Amino acid sequence: MAEYTIKVRRFQPESGEGPYWEEFNVDLDPSLSVLDGLLQAKDRDDGSLAVRCSCRAAICGSCGMKINGQSGLGCKTQIGEAQELADKQASAAGTGSDGNSIVIEPMGNMPVIKDLITDMESTHWTKIRRVTPWLLPHGEAPEREYVVEPESMIDITQSMACIQCGACVSSCLSMEADPDFIGPAALAKAYRFVGDPRDAETSERLHDLAEDPHGIYDCTHCFSCIDACPKGVAPMDQIMRLRRKAGEEGIEDPNAGHAHEVAFVKVIEKKGLLDEALLVQESYAPGIKGKLKPSKRGLTETIKSLPTILRPLRKRKVKLRQAIPGLHHGLPKDSMNDVKSIYTHAEEHNEEFNLYIKGEEGELIDENVEKGIERSTDPDTAEAK
Ligand code: SF4
Ligand code: SF4
Ligand code: FES
Repeated sequence: MAEYTIKVRRFQPESGEGPYWEEFNVDLDPSLSVLDGLLQAKDRDDGSLAVRCSCRAAICGSCGMKINGQSGLGCKTQIGEAQELADKQASAAGTGSDGNSIVIEPMGNMPVIKDLITDMESTHWTKIRRVTPWLLPHGEAPEREYVVEPESMIDITQSMACIQCGACVSSCLSMEADPDFIGPAALAKAYRFVGDPRDAETSERLHDLAEDPHGIYDCTHCFSCIDACPKGVAPMDQIMRLRRKAGEEGIEDPNAGHAHEVAFVKVIEKKGLLDEALLVQESYAPGIKGKLKPSKRGLTETIKSLPTILRPLRKRKVKLRQAIPGLHHGLPKDSMNDVKSIYTHAEEHNEEFNLYIKGEEGELIDENVEKGIERSTDPDTAEAK
């Protein structure tokens, strides 16, 4: 048993007062959860402390909250670990080294209803419905169930692990800047259907998500949702998969994100180093040195990028040579052999050559088969979410 101080951000709308902080002392084994601490405080000190929970086992997704500023599940975060983090944060800030309060707040990017209870409907469920979260299959429904090869479902098992807790939404920096952003949870859900071989509207779904100004290109790859997700869904990876599929579908990305990604891979393959000027040109007018096929958009975008290039030139942060596409030096020939071997390895092993998705197809299959086995033995998570 150890004693902890939890500092809770409270809001009791019926009182007519604004939000305030309140501290509670709780006695718990360090292996018990932050949610256990909150329930003890509610039981012993103040029955009006509002917190949403049900399973207490990281299954139902009810207890999303911010603990020491990080979004996650109250029932999955051990209070001992939360204390260690609070002490580490205080030590880094120079405000103390141990015995600090564990700070607990409601999830971000959502209106607060009461204490730690947020309005999931307005920001989470509305966005989930936005992506048509059900299967739109071909033709007549079969007499019995749809039959698909298990292997063809492997790609989507990661997104199927979502428990709709909203922790990723709470931590999303893009959503903070643009509340209309469809967001990590809904886009991960969208990939669950885009990647489903039974769905007949893949192209329509991709066009919809790519053409929406608050859609898949609104994500800034900040990785927060990956850190926050308690179930390993890695929403940002699902968004990258949606982007790649949209690129394969020939959908034009308003920010040239897919072309930028392709250009990045191509420039590194050719030079081993990042030639930024060549990257801009390649992103809008594909073709490596001598094989240029400038498009109207390529020229417009290159002209538009001139002020961005001129500023560092004026401040002498870049040399003129670096500002002209193709003049930046590359790696020496022997180092280029190493670069080429990475590309060959990636191609031979069907590795997803995406900056954000790592691993080999074989590993992904093993990992997901493992998850599939887990799901099939656990009745609570057996159904497809
Ligand atoms: S990676 Fe994208 S979706 Fe995830 S939290 Fe950051 S901005 Fe939001
Ligand atoms: S993706 Fe992860 S963090 Fe986001 S709602 Fe689903 S389980 Fe929660
Ligand atoms: S109470 Fe169910 S996920 Fe925490």
